[in-house]
Amino acid sequence: MSLERRTPPSAPEDSLLAWRDEFPILSQTNYLISNSLGAMPRRVYDSLREYADTWATRGVRAWGEGWWDMNVRVGDKVGAIIGAPPGTVSMHQNISIAQGILLSCFDYDGPRNKVVIESGIFPSVYYVLRGMLPSHIELHMVESEDGGITVPLERIIEAIDEHTLLVPISHVLFRSAYILDVQAIIEKAHAVGATVILDGYHAVGIIPVDVTALNADFYLGGVLKWMCGGPGGVFLYARPDHLKTVRPKLTGWMAHKRPFAFEVDEIDLRDDAFRFLNGTPAIPSLYANEPGVDIIAQVVVENIRRKSMHQTALLIALAEEAGFKVNSPRDPAQRGGTVTLEPNPACSYEISRELIARNVVVDYRPQAGIRVSPHFYNSDDEIHQVVEAIQEIIEDGSWRRHATGRAFVT
Ligand SMILES: Cc1ncc(COP(=O)(O)O)c(C=O)c1O
Repeated sequence: MSLERRTPPSAPEDSLLAWRDEFPILSQTNYLISNSLGAMPRRVYDSLREYADTWATRGVRAWGEGWWDMNVRVGDKVGAIIGAPPGTVSMHQNISIAQGILLSCFDYDGPRNKVVIESGIFPSVYYVLRGMLPSHIELHMVESEDGGITVPLERIIEAIDEHTLLVPISHVLFRSAYILDVQAIIEKAHAVGATVILDGYHAVGIIPVDVTALNADFYLGGVLKWMCGGPGGVFLYARPDHLKTVRPKLTGWMAHKRPFAFEVDEIDLRDDAFRFLNGTPAIPSLYANEPGVDIIAQVVVENIRRKSMHQTALLIALAEEAGFKVNSPRDPAQRGGTVTLEPNPACSYEISRELIARNVVVDYRPQAGIRVSPHFYNSDDEIHQVVEAIQEIIEDGSWRRHATGRAFVT
């Protein structure tokens, strides 16, 4: 069965498709999974070769010739995309570690004994919170009231009070792509003296983010999804005033003002993004991270967002016409770059495996469904193709080939 090709009248001129050649995987694959791992830019081959050449020819001198500062140099490139001033963004291995670094900055013995989170929180962040917060701290979770598509903003705002120390909160929910009104959350938190740690992994690179305009205390995100920067590229933005005051306990010599004095004494912390670093950074990741970040800067997130709103609307229209349940917000202003589909609750996981077997790459999340995540390099045809492929898979029963057990590997 195939659906009639339809393009909403608002479809933008698709000059962004000119970027397709920069991403090798797109020539063989309908790649609709940029919410998980963005497509690799061709330039990464050159970048990693440059890393190997530098190591091979400069050896240890590479530290002084660029590697020592590379972390914050790449951080500045990310910062330019998210409205952060230079010297405020550091790169880290993953969000779990970056959250741990931030949690290690706070004093839990004071009068504030409450941390407010929402039920759409990414589990790894929750595990770190549970592991690091002392038992007398109340972890107050605001629940979704619609099965996980959204979280009620009013409940979050109500929960943040004068007992609240921290508000570690998602900017965009990973299951449904619901965009939280983080401006309102930050305003309430600041009014009562609480600090907000935003997890913007599903925001950066697909919706415009301006950490300065938001007056965000701390903003975490990663380049591996919508920024096409590959694994090992998570960033931590800290508001300039926090860079001079907060004191990470999870720290190391990279954060010291005089690392090469090798003083075994109280650490003298730097007043810039290095303050949040610890030990020797993973230099190869930084080389791999750069090309994707450069491309996103060139493409410009506002252009990406415009196209994304068009393609997610098209996807929802086609999915509804085909009778699939949609577990993402209908209001485009509240929806990030992903549309989560539940074509058949009994076999959506198996359908997702068959899609991947057919080279239509998506993923599946329990309590949500099949996440379809077009990016600036996807064509409208590829949107039609995924919906048609799901219909075929249901009709021909080929999903049954995958009904042997749920491995949940990606
Ligand atoms: C919102 C969010 N936070 C964090 C993570 C991952 O955390 P980590 O970088 O520790 O693997 C993900 C992974 O998809 C995520 O969606």
